[in-house]
Amino acid sequence: MDLKTVTFEEGVISVLDQRKLPLEEKRVIIRSVRDAYDAIASMAVRGAPLIGIVAAFGASLSLCETREEWENAFYEGTRLLARSRPTAINLHWALKRAEKAFEKARSSGREAAYRAVIEEAEAIRREDALLCRKIGENLQPFIRDGGRYLTHCNAGALATAAYGTALAGFYVAREENKKIFVWVDETRPWLQGLRLTAWELTRGMIPHKVIADSAAAFLISRGEVDAVFTGADRIAANGDTANKIGTYALSLACRAHGIPFIVAAPRSTLDPSCPGGEEIPIEERGGEEITRIAGMGEMAEEAYNPAFDVTPYANITAIVTEEGVWRP
Ligand code: MRU
Repeated sequence: MDLKTVTFEEGVISVLDQRKLPLEEKRVIIRSVRDAYDAIASMAVRGAPLIGIVAAFGASLSLCETREEWENAFYEGTRLLARSRPTAINLHWALKRAEKAFEKARSSGREAAYRAVIEEAEAIRREDALLCRKIGENLQPFIRDGGRYLTHCNAGALATAAYGTALAGFYVAREENKKIFVWVDETRPWLQGLRLTAWELTRGMIPHKVIADSAAAFLISRGEVDAVFTGADRIAANGDTANKIGTYALSLACRAHGIPFIVAAPRSTLDPSCPGGEEIPIEERGGEEITRIAGMGEMAEEAYNPAFDVTPYANITAIVTEEGVWRP
């Protein structure tokens, strides 16, 4: 599952515009650091690994924008990109890799530094596709022929270079001829499940149905779900995991009904400098994402819109990475 979420050619980044899916397949063209910042902040691109990849490519663009003071321009660019979204640690991880590549090459001049940053971004993208595939393989012990699973938000090919994290398990299961069925949480308020996960599961030929988020616990209580699989935006050192708002509630339902709650993420989503979930910064987005839906006007005056929540490690059956399976 490679949906060409991001391509880079001659100083131009092109990304699939996730704000328009599934109704339109359009691309956003990014020619400057500011464009890259806007694409991430406005959620034209989203999902922790993909945010990191686009930021790494974006960091190279400041080196095309100016010939004077290019070293300062590069750091100004990475600082700007680091502010684009607060919760996904992959953003900072990828920017640090871009900065290291820059620092190694800068004594050879601007052009060499530019090439080095691009090469590093390409490496991050290549590695992401390979490790997502590996995550999919490592998820197989939790996926059986005939199983019915539930996922939240979009932790799929659209959120990565290819395959995804949680959804990689479903794609690899299909390759292994396991017949599975997936319940897709719509994922209010931005509707990543309805708009993105359903779209990519259709392309991946995985049977699925979208449900209202509020139906999930009921389905779990009725024995309709064998396990829940989600991605992660940041995993603290103790295993507490930040992911899309609504993930914590799912973990509670799984715990209450004794079914596995599995987190799938690359190793780069682990933030060892963050001791526990309390320390993870949680993004708050505009209230209009909640009060305006379906093209209707403003339906309430005020809203509170935290975009992520934290699932305590005790509720997590396993965290599956490219390196294997971690248990609490
Ligand atoms: O706000 P989003 O759409 O960027 O949130 C995405 C998620 O919460 C994903 O589950 C997470 O980033 C993992 S994507 C492989």
